[in-house]
Amino acid sequence: MSQVNLNSQINQIDIDNLPRHIAIIMDGNGRWAKKRLLPRNFGHQEGMKRVVEIVEASTELGIKHLTLYAFSTENWKRPKNEIEGLMKLLITYIRNELDKLIKNNVRLNILGDVTPLPDLAKLEIRRAIDETKDNNGMVLNIALNYGGRDDIINGVKTILKDVELGNISIEDIDNNLFSEYLYTKGQPDPDLLIRPSGELRISNFLLYQTAYTEYWFSDVLWPDFKKEKLYEAILDFQKRNRRFGGI
Ligand code: FPP
Repeated sequence: MSQVNLNSQINQIDIDNLPRHIAIIMDGNGRWAKKRLLPRNFGHQEGMKRVVEIVEASTELGIKHLTLYAFSTENWKRPKNEIEGLMKLLITYIRNELDKLIKNNVRLNILGDVTPLPDLAKLEIRRAIDETKDNNGMVLNIALNYGGRDDIINGVKTILKDVELGNISIEDIDNNLFSEYLYTKGQPDPDLLIRPSGELRISNFLLYQTAYTEYWFSDVLWPDFKKEKLYEAILDFQKRNRRFGGI
């Protein structure tokens, strides 16, 4: 899309009605590669370029929370070389982009249990979290070894420990308090969830947090998901009438 058309799309976006939190299931990398007779990791590599582009577009617009589903608790079932490729991409992403994230006032946060990740990946993640911890622009959540069910179960276990320790009582537990025991603690629930690649399911992503999230689906594969698709999703979101169960 030309810069003129991109600008006209941006101009249509109502800056006062932006989704506070956008969550994206970055799907379709494998199919993108297959269509080109390339190994799957080429699709992930191209997908990483879209991560750079979409993070940039989101900070430019003033989105406050962006969550990207990079690796699910189920993705360990994939071939070893694909998993290694994804971990390498994560390391490359942090090494290449950390300065830009700092400059753009982005705070990096991870959703999920990083314990089983390779040491080098954990090292880079820790460095990036530390170097961006005081940034107060956008929060970039990367979901890594993340599962919505694990998130809830982990939250239940931690909240029960607090009951056991006498820090809280069972009566204190409500939605607001429970949200503080999830990986997304302190952040608003996603207003908009985007899933490219034509699949119409939630795939164990933010199960608790998406109770009232607006979904936006596209047939475009993630490696083809350019800025204009993000703008399109936001423009569509701004036409929705959200009632949260009211009338
Ligand atoms: C799903 O597509 C995509 C993933 C499991 C990985 C997403 C990772 C990236 C976009 C690159 C690295 C990310 C960061 C944050 C640096 P798929 O492989 O399931 O596609 P398919 O359904 O077409 O096979």
